Amino acid sequence: MAQKIQSVKGMNDLLPVEQKDFKLTAAFWQAFEDTVSQWARAYGYQQIRTPIVEQTGLFVRSIGEETDVVGKEMYTFSDSNDSLSLSLRPEGTASCLRAVVEHNLLYNNPQKLWYMGPMFRRERPQKGRYRQFHQVGIEALGFAGPDIDAEITAMSADLWNKLGIRDYLTLEINSLGNRKERAAYRAALVAYLTEYEDQLDEDSKRRLKSNPLRVLDTKNPGLQEICNAAPCLIDYLGEESLAHYNRFKALLDGLQIEYVENPRLVRGLDYYNQTVFEWTTEKLGAQATVCGGGRYDGLIEELGGKPAASIGFAMGIERLLLLVHEYGSLKVNAAPDVYAMHQGEGADLKVMQYAQALRAAGLNVLQHSGYQKLNAQMKKADASGARFALIVAQDELAEGKVTLKDMQGEKGQITVAAADLINTLQQWKNV
Ligand code: HAM
Repeated sequence: MAQKIQSVKGMNDLLPVEQKDFKLTAAFWQAFEDTVSQWARAYGYQQIRTPIVEQTGLFVRSIGEETDVVGKEMYTFSDSNDSLSLSLRPEGTASCLRAVVEHNLLYNNPQKLWYMGPMFRRERPQKGRYRQFHQVGIEALGFAGPDIDAEITAMSADLWNKLGIRDYLTLEINSLGNRKERAAYRAALVAYLTEYEDQLDEDSKRRLKSNPLRVLDTKNPGLQEICNAAPCLIDYLGEESLAHYNRFKALLDGLQIEYVENPRLVRGLDYYNQTVFEWTTEKLGAQATVCGGGRYDGLIEELGGKPAASIGFAMGIERLLLLVHEYGSLKVNAAPDVYAMHQGEGADLKVMQYAQALRAAGLNVLQHSGYQKLNAQMKKADASGARFALIVAQDELAEGKVTLKDMQGEKGQITVAAADLINTLQQWKNV
């Protein structure tokens, strides 16, 4: 036998059935996608779909060369025909903004957009952390006020409610101020951390040079004391930034959305300013952040567009659905309404005709394929989870009749005139 070829490490198949180490099924995922589409529509957000491959320069310029995502985790290759460097997108914001600028979507018109799709980061795979993972993202472009910060935060909270996981998530917020304020803070932080440089681990020493705010993000317990005593960004915010942050918090209070202020929340991508937030959980081990985002007021301009203050967030679908699978609620309807069987000469054609008529009337019909005995077909009907079975048999056909069976309820098995088939099943279904 030829050797089997395995999927790429950290990239999952989504199957009709649960896998031992990956519990999410395609039907579960589909139910989530339906919920998300309705949710985004309810808030007036429009969908955008961008390519999975972009010029590498897009991510370098927006996410930042010194970030882990761009510096270490991107899948980058050169197009064979020319020397253009391309990358699989590690996130959706940069692509979304590239498209908005390219197609001039912001001309006189702010935009509320959402997207869903695969992203790629070469991280060490573990539960909740994959190399191909999926995000749902929201981007509100051309809005400067704190009202939109609160709107999108409330919007995320609303989705957690719909998915039955609100009780398992904590909202953490912070403000990064504007560029000038952050620069002043950065200088103070570097001065402080430099005093302790010999006690820092290798990662933090590297970050001290490249991205000092991220040192505070360290998971190393040995560094917690140093980080706790570090200067706080909030103390460097000016009047305007503080007013924006305070109004954001007041709006959250008014909307009864609880939050924890985390002065060390800085996010892992370089484009953020002012409001940042993350939704975290204690239920997923180390991969605690299921959703993160914030303002990126300067990014559109950096990508060649006219200035437009903006904010957004993205949630990791795998992390979210692992949580929903275990603790939440999501109605999955994968089973067919009807399993259609046939037996005897001419019944194979009739069953197809009846199945088409039932589908046209709005029922989902899984038709048995092949010519097995009826009891073998009935076993398949059972296994399919169908609510009803339709049996089209040659001898009944001669009298213009078919048999219906209620597989889960109490209606039993009856024979009806073929002309009453649709009516009867519709009534059964609606009870
Ligand atoms: P991010 O924090 O890099 O932000 O990613 C958002 C979410 O994607 C994370 O909170 C996590 O749930 C999920 N995620 C990230 N990496 C992985 C992975 N390797 N495996 C599984 N899930 C993962 C962004 O991507 C920004 N673009 C969010 C944003 C939109 N900010 C403004 N607008």
